[in-house]
Amino acid sequence: MVKILITGCAGYIGSIAADLFLKNNYQVVGIDNFQTGYKRPIEILQERYKDKFKFYEADLKSDLSPIFESEVAFDAVVHYAASCVVDESMKNPYKYFNNNPNSTLNLLETMDKFSVKKIVFSSTCALYGEAQYVPLDEKHPTNPNNVYGESKLMAEKIIQWYGQLKDFNYIIFRYFNVSGATEDGVFGYSKHPSTHLTENAVKSSLGIVPFYFTYQKTETPDGSPIRDYVNVLDLDEAHMLAVKKLSETQRIKEIINLGTGTGNSVVEIVNKVQELTGKKFEVKTSDKPREGEAPKLVASIDKAKKILGWEPKRTIEDSVKSLLIWYKNHPQGWEK
Ligand SMILES: NC(=O)c1ccc[n+]([C@@H]2O[C@H](COP(=O)([O-])OP(=O)(O)OC[C@H]3O[C@@H](n4cnc5c(N)ncnc54)[C@H](O)[C@@H]3O)[C@@H](O)[C@H]2O)c1
Repeated sequence: MVKILITGCAGYIGSIAADLFLKNNYQVVGIDNFQTGYKRPIEILQERYKDKFKFYEADLKSDLSPIFESEVAFDAVVHYAASCVVDESMKNPYKYFNNNPNSTLNLLETMDKFSVKKIVFSSTCALYGEAQYVPLDEKHPTNPNNVYGESKLMAEKIIQWYGQLKDFNYIIFRYFNVSGATEDGVFGYSKHPSTHLTENAVKSSLGIVPFYFTYQKTETPDGSPIRDYVNVLDLDEAHMLAVKKLSETQRIKEIINLGTGTGNSVVEIVNKVQELTGKKFEVKTSDKPREGEAPKLVASIDKAKKILGWEPKRTIEDSVKSLLIWYKNHPQGWEK
C-alpha cells in the first residue's frame, strides 16, 4: 500500500485530499498545527478509515524527525500546509515569510534526512501577478503583487534547489481559484470571513451572510475581475495522479497549472449562483478594494493534460451544488 504524508491535513483542500487518497486505498499520515485547520475533519477521517489514517498535531517548523522516525517510510509527501490569505499577508508579512518558506524548508530537510525525495507542492497563480497574456501558462513571468504569492514563490524556489542539489523529484501545482466541497457535503470550506467568492455567494443565497462585492474596478467587460474556478475534487485528483507519476518516473521536476482553462467574472459567478439557487439576494458593493489583486487570471492547463492526463471533470454548477449541501449542514463551517 502506498503511504503518503499530507501536510495541512486539517485544512480545506488537505482534508478533502486525505479523504480522497484514503478512499483510493492509500495509507495516509496527516500533519497540521490547527493554525487555520479544524479538529472535526480529522475525527471524521479517523472514524471513516481507522488504522489507514494517522494524525500528528505538529508545526512544520518544529523538529519533524520523531514523526518520520516512527512512520519508517513515506513514498511521497503532499504538502498543502501554508498561511494563505492574501489580505492578511499584506498586513502581516512576517507571518507569511516566516511560515511558508520556513515550513517548506524544514520539511524538505527532514525528508532529505530520511531519504524521502518525492514531493507534491501546493502553489498558487498569485505568484504570476498581473497577467501579461491569457491564458497564463507556466512560462508566464512570475511577479507577485502580494506577500502571499511572494512567499509561495520563495517556497517553490527552495523546492527547485532541493531538486537540483539533493535529487528531489517534485510536482509543483499552481492552483487557480479553488471551489466547492465534497459531493456528499461532508468536507468543505470554513474560513471566517471567507475570501472565496463562490462560497460567499452560496452562503448568501442561503441567508447565512449578507453579500458584499469587494472587487477592485478593472478593465474587464463588466468591470469585475476574471478568475478561473477549479473544483476542489478535480484539484485533489490531480494530486493523486501526481503521486502516481512520481512513483513511476525516474526523474520528474515540473511546475504545472491547475485550473479549468476558462474564466468567469465576479459578476458572472454571482449571477450563476442566483440562477442555480433560484434565490435573488441583495448585493452590496464595498468601496474598499482588496489589496494586491490582479484583474484577470485564467490558466492554460495544457501541461496538466500532457504530463498527467488530467482534465477537470466538474463544472462551476457542480461546485455550487456541493457547497449548497455543505453549507446547509454547516452554516458556519466547521466549529473550532
Ligand atoms: N484555497 C485556494 O483557493 C488556494 C488557491 C491556491 C493555492 N492554495 C494553496 O493550497 C493549500 C491549502 O489551502 P487551503 O485553502 O486548504 O487552506 P487552509 O488554511 O484551509 O489549510 C492550510 C492548513 O495548513 C495548516 N498549517 C499552516 N501552517 C502550518 C504549519 N506551519 N504547520 C502545520 N500545519 C500548518 C493550517 O492549520 C491548515 O489546516 C495552501 O498551500 C494554499 O496556499 C489554495
